Amino acid sequence: MSATSSSSATGRTLVITPTYDERESLPVTLARLRAAVPAADVLVVDDGSPDGTGQVADAIADADASVHVMHRPGKGGLGAAYTAGFGWGLERGYDVLVEMDADGSHAPEQLPALLAAVEGGADLALGSRWVPGGRVVDWPLGRQLLSRGGNTWARWALGIPLRDATGGYRAYRARALRAADLSSVRSEGYCYQLELATRVVRAGLVAVEVPITFTERAAGTSKMSRAIIVEALARTTLWGAQRRWAQARALYERRAGRSR
Ligand code: GDD
Ligand code: MN
Repeated sequence: MSATSSSSATGRTLVITPTYDERESLPVTLARLRAAVPAADVLVVDDGSPDGTGQVADAIADADASVHVMHRPGKGGLGAAYTAGFGWGLERGYDVLVEMDADGSHAPEQLPALLAAVEGGADLALGSRWVPGGRVVDWPLGRQLLSRGGNTWARWALGIPLRDATGGYRAYRARALRAADLSSVRSEGYCYQLELATRVVRAGLVAVEVPITFTERAAGTSKMSRAIIVEALARTTLWGAQRRWAQARALYERRAGRSR
């Protein structure tokens, strides 16, 4: 069997990196990634960054055949960018699809640990800041509290056993993305991460949290916004209420059935 450049024991790996105004960070992140995991292919999904990140990505792709660039016309949110990127990768037969931020917060040097978890049987290997061994470096206290609080709320409302379901550094087996039915996902912002993790768990697939060190970006600014927080809180609360309503109904119907 002839090995392609992106082959490993688990199969061909594609790292998808969404970008919006990351012209300084992207080249550094991609250079580190190529050094850390030379076998992986890369897809940059740029939403027409005003700072010219798309052209920076094109220049890197021109010099490196394993780097690809998808240009989308305008800022459509993290969720839409990933859905487009996953579609591109699934069409081309990649076996493992990785999400990684462009800003350096997700260390490419830790990708082998995520891929090892997939090789060990995980359908989703989730890089986690909030499990033993996980860390954040230089992240403002406000963001830490938001992330911890949001994750605690999501775990309770959705009933999923994950400590960092909002995290954006993860490796999926292709079958997990197919099970997640991407075309029906409606979350636009970082809530997309929560929705996908929930769908994988609910599909009965194996999600494993792998400790990571998340380091605050050195250049550029976060795209986190009030709208992103509101979307995540509103959707999580609605899903939680629906879930509890369904549980209550099932209980009621069982009781009614017994007394008949
Ligand atoms: N194409 C595209 N379109 N890319 C986007 C968009 C968008 O609308 N919004 C953000 N991005 C890209 C950024 O350029 C970056 O590469 C990555 O998505 C993450 O965005 P950041 O703005 O750096 O996110 P953060 O550091 O505030 O948030 C981190 O924590 C979140 C909550 O835990 C990330 O790890 C998120 O993935 C995570 O959900
Ligand atoms: Mn970031």
